[in-house]
Amino acid sequence: MNHIEYSVAHSVATIRFNRPEKKNAITLEMYVDFTKALAKANADADVRAVLITGAGNAFTSGNDIANFRERTGREDGGAAEQFMLSIVNSDKPLVAAVNGVAIGVGATMLLHCDLVYASDNATIKMPFVSLGICSEFSSSLTLPAVMGMQRATEMLLLGDAIDARKAMEFGFVNAVYELEQLHEIAFAAAQRIAQQPSESVRTTREFLRAALRPNYAQRLVEERRMITELLGSPDARRAFDGFFARRGNAPGAAV
Ligand code: COA
Repeated sequence: MNHIEYSVAHSVATIRFNRPEKKNAITLEMYVDFTKALAKANADADVRAVLITGAGNAFTSGNDIANFRERTGREDGGAAEQFMLSIVNSDKPLVAAVNGVAIGVGATMLLHCDLVYASDNATIKMPFVSLGICSEFSSSLTLPAVMGMQRATEMLLLGDAIDARKAMEFGFVNAVYELEQLHEIAFAAAQRIAQQPSESVRTTREFLRAALRPNYAQRLVEERRMITELLGSPDARRAFDGFFARRGNAPGAAV
């Protein structure tokens, strides 16, 4: 089954995480397929905005935890890093329709989307510290830039899920809608961007991001090195084993 869906309509490409039975947890294959889908959207002159959403009742529960447990110390960030960089460097504007949980990398990626709309039942969570790892993909830079230091610290150090209203108050999402309306409204926003003068959209997006960019790449590497180190720690092992153990699954059996 294809866990990343891609379609185009009215100048808007839609990329959908489609693994609802696992709350759209992202496997290595899904990172690769998403990256390819976004490259396809960027290469298509008829596509002028991209809508990202999830199937079922989740946006995405983040990195598949089984992959965390299998990850060994590699020097590049692999498929997950390519996935994030494809989002960071997308020439086409990105609109996210967060239709349920957005956890871990599913939350980090939102910090690079141009517009983020959430359903009223959505929750956003960055549980890196609770899992014994640390902030990822430069979120220690982007999160305070989006919401301020105190709120960023609350999200990262406490690691609690925040609901859609609080996410809007924090500046994480632009607006909150009933789930039934979410897709239509987010799609309409993507269409509106698609209809704007493209060179003006392109240059304004670049200017908006210019201040953070110079430090972005270096922080990403520093955080990746630290995560690679922490993944082998007893705290992280306990957290990942605990996730599957609570369900009565043998380690790795959930994938
Ligand atoms: N990695 C691997 N499997 C995951 C997953 C993830 N990130 N998130 C959910 N799943 C799986 C569950 O193991 C379960 O599989 P099973 O039916 O084979 O047992 C299935 O998806 C459904 O999840 P479940 O926990 O039963 O749903 P829920 O509604 O009770 O809770 C979540 C949903 C997303 C809140 C919960 O699954 C969760 O906290 N997931 C982990 C999120 C996380 O920490 N991600 C990593 C961030 S760095």
